[in-house]
Amino acid sequence: MQTPYSTSKKYIDDFDSSEYYQTYYATGQGIFLGDWTDFALQNLHETFGPGGLKGEILTDFGAGPTIYHLLSACEVFNSIITSDFLEQNREQLKKWLRKDPGAFDWSHVVKYVCELEGNSDNWEKKEETLRRKITKVLKCDALAEKPFDVPMPEADCLISCLCLEAPCKDLEDFTNTLKKFKELLKPGGHIIIQSVLNCSLYFVGNKSFSCLSITKDELEQAFKEAGYEIVKLKVVPRSEKIWANVSDHSEYYYIHARKPQKE
Ligand SMILES: C[S@@+](CC[C@H](N)C(=O)[O-])C[C@H]1O[C@@H](n2cnc3c(N)ncnc32)[C@H](O)[C@@H]1O
Repeated sequence: MQTPYSTSKKYIDDFDSSEYYQTYYATGQGIFLGDWTDFALQNLHETFGPGGLKGEILTDFGAGPTIYHLLSACEVFNSIITSDFLEQNREQLKKWLRKDPGAFDWSHVVKYVCELEGNSDNWEKKEETLRRKITKVLKCDALAEKPFDVPMPEADCLISCLCLEAPCKDLEDFTNTLKKFKELLKPGGHIIIQSVLNCSLYFVGNKSFSCLSITKDELEQAFKEAGYEIVKLKVVPRSEKIWANVSDHSEYYYIHARKPQKE
């Protein structure tokens, strides 16, 4: 009998954290720099900057080996719980937290966020703030009945970047995961998801990973069906850089929604 294709096993076996960082985020060469990172970081600066969201607990779902998406939020939340499905990614996060000499360098991205905040001399202080605010690095699994296998506090905000399209094989999986996320939020809590539209696959080194190809309408439909109130939805085309051979997405999206106060 043929074994069904397992996304989880594929990730465990083939996702190389260093190749991922080098391809997408490394200084001077990461193909996401100046494109995805500008989009994502400007949105997060607007979301968590002056007059924006703040709170006690932020839960971050599927960070991969990255921290860039927490750089604005770390100024306005007391505690950040970050997570990823893969041991190799969680190990990279822990290396960065303990300033291991082999940790990935995020200073170029940290400086960019400090510039958005009008304080470009402050980047080392921001790194320290984020290190202090991250209280846990947990395993998460979007496909499990409970996405975390430990009791979780209800968060004021849940954030996830470039993640859900990886494990979810169809819109139903995607919608079900959003429903499970509601259990992780306080009533009225916020959810911020940023990712790609119309992406069927992407590469990490010479390994390809399939992706749930989702449209803007399907995204809206999934959030509504999961019972959220959509606050803001933004879509922009990716830049014209010639890297269709690494990922075939057409656009980036940012969605901010809320769990209703009463259900
Ligand atoms: C494209 S990477 C995104 C990493 C990072 N969030 C970023 O913004 O660059 C996709 C992520 O999905 C995660 N993933 C794969 N299967 C998963 C699952 N079942 N549950 C949660 N995350 C999963 C991978 O470990 C990986 O970190």
